[in-house]
Amino acid sequence: MILKISKLKTHFSTPDGLVRAVDTIDLSIRERETVGLIGETGCGKTVLGLTITRLLQSSTTVKGTIIYKETNLLKISETEMRRIRGDEIAMILQNPTTSLNPVMRVGEQIAEVIRLHQGLNKKDAAEKAIKMLGSVRIPSPSQRANEYPHEFSGGMKQRVMIAMGLACNPSLIIADEPTKGLDVTIKSQIIKLLKEVTKEKAMLLITHDLSVARALCDRIALMYAGELVECAPAGEIFDAPRHPYTRGFLGSLPRNGLVPIPGMSPSLINLPQGCRFHPRCANAKAICKRKHPGMTEIEDGHFVRCFDA
Ligand SMILES: Nc1ncnc2c1ncn2[C@@H]1O[C@H](COP(=O)(O)OP(=O)(O)O)[C@@H](O)[C@H]1O
Ligand SMILES: [Mg+2]
Repeated sequence: MILKISKLKTHFSTPDGLVRAVDTIDLSIRERETVGLIGETGCGKTVLGLTITRLLQSSTTVKGTIIYKETNLLKISETEMRRIRGDEIAMILQNPTTSLNPVMRVGEQIAEVIRLHQGLNKKDAAEKAIKMLGSVRIPSPSQRANEYPHEFSGGMKQRVMIAMGLACNPSLIIADEPTKGLDVTIKSQIIKLLKEVTKEKAMLLITHDLSVARALCDRIALMYAGELVECAPAGEIFDAPRHPYTRGFLGSLPRNGLVPIPGMSPSLINLPQGCRFHPRCANAKAICKRKHPGMTEIEDGHFVRCFDA
């Protein structure tokens, strides 16, 4: 295991009440494995990624353990964490337009990361930045390095974000919706690129796009209202989904006629009693309203949180 998350909780206290964004999650990632984290908007995916990289404001309550290699990331100093964030774990953020500095040349932005974390001098870092742009298949990288983010298309900006994430050769990548907002052709190019550049790396791929997950993931975890409800090898999720939420989610794909799951996901401040999915579940029984189901291993490596599975 390169990453082992146990009993992780991330709670925000807000004027409206406690937001239980991540509410007792167990999840592991092996070396070179890509694990997909899938779920509707607002279920806590980004917060989980930001908890692992410790990029949340310090007032956030975080409990549990996040073991990266041998180290509990929740126990180390900010200085040590900053080193890990640069050299070991990279987060490719959701929105390239807000993550890139608009007044700094693209090459310089990547070079700065490299200088900071690898101690290269200015010239070597600039050269490496150009190499990184080439490695994510940006044409004429030495020219493009001198341009500003607004001169790049959405797909090219996403490539820059990937180059920046890979610049320090991390072992673990957390990619948050790396194909969001891209048109179909560009999306498939980015999928292909991610597949190539992460072959030797472990990745947590956050997405609400099942086609992206299908193309890239070895295992998939479905998240609903702050917790995981199903986790299994990717093939089993697509061919034999067991949780009603997973089935509903697969059913809402365009090729299945886009039948959305009825109802809305619950507020993370007022979670339903019993199974969190029961108000939207067509198979809900009396016990589902009363008791919160645990994760059960129904087959080797296939976990489901449902009394009916
Ligand atoms: N800093 C914060 N303070 C309070 N609530 C937050 C904060 N960040 C995220 N949330 C809440 O946590 C929940 C999960 O958000 P998020 O992880 O962004 O969802 P997802 O990425 O799955 O769409 C949402 O209800 C969001 O409003
Ligand atoms: Mg998100």
